[in-house]
Amino acid sequence: MADLTEARAAAAARINTAVAHPARVYDYLLGGKDNFAADREAAEELIRVSPGTREGVRAHRAFLRRAVRHLAEAGVSQFLDIGTGIPTQGNTHEIAQEVDPDARVVYVDNDPIVLVHGRALLTGTGMTRVIEADLRQPEAILSHPEVRAVIDFTRPVAVILAGVLHFVTDEEDPYATVEHIKAAVPAGSHLLLSHITLDFAPRLLEEDFTKPYDKSTAPMVPRTHAEVLRFFEGWRVVDPGVVEVVKWRPDDKERHEHIPGGGHAWAYGGVAVKP
Ligand SMILES: C[S@@+](CC[C@H](N)C(=O)[O-])C[C@H]1O[C@@H](n2cnc3c(N)ncnc32)[C@H](O)[C@@H]1O
Repeated sequence: MADLTEARAAAAARINTAVAHPARVYDYLLGGKDNFAADREAAEELIRVSPGTREGVRAHRAFLRRAVRHLAEAGVSQFLDIGTGIPTQGNTHEIAQEVDPDARVVYVDNDPIVLVHGRALLTGTGMTRVIEADLRQPEAILSHPEVRAVIDFTRPVAVILAGVLHFVTDEEDPYATVEHIKAAVPAGSHLLLSHITLDFAPRLLEEDFTKPYDKSTAPMVPRTHAEVLRFFEGWRVVDPGVVEVVKWRPDDKERHEHIPGGGHAWAYGGVAVKP
């Protein structure tokens, strides 16, 4: 634990509050307090361009909770959650360990602020770890000692890539990255993935929507349904497919709020299993 305390102190020193960061923009949109002026400015700009952003983000988070619950109830007991975000209500380990107290979870994020909040992610009865690493260097994640200590790669793993791939540009080859991770897990493993799209916003200029992220640490790259589906290639997508997040197995446990601007959350989500 001493190591983690030191890592947290070092991480805190590396946080640049002057530049908006996706984790903190998302935190602000979810109603959190771990954000700074630059993050709030970017988030408010998003809301100006797309008035349903706040509700859409909440609907996206609700999808993540439902999908993790579904996987845990289906017997999945290992989760590699890349692009974790700042802890909020209903984090992956809380949902998974509610179903299976022995579920193992590793959180991975490239924003040091997530590590700073590691304590909130390390509560619970099961085994949970949080590491700072970058999705664009998948091998560094897969070979990380903390990941190896928690995840047994001879048994099925649920890889979670929720709301993170739209921060990886085409030039950075997100498909190769996802394939690299898919190849590292055995048959019976799952991929839980969600992604921003402008498919439901035909009149909105991509530029207007992505502009608030221009000054942030990562640009925003919305993708079409076909482009999102491609991430699942070779794996069997479970019902109801790769759909708008609000349409992915809605249940009574979640409050489904109205999303202004047509009711769309502007994100696709899906779950697939490795044959
Ligand atoms: C929109 S939040 C999604 C949080 C959570 N997965 C969810 O769906 O509620 C995106 C997260 O991805 C992280 N992120 C962005 N680019 C990343 C990268 N290249 N490697 C690791 N994490 C990244 C951000 O720091 C942020 O915490």
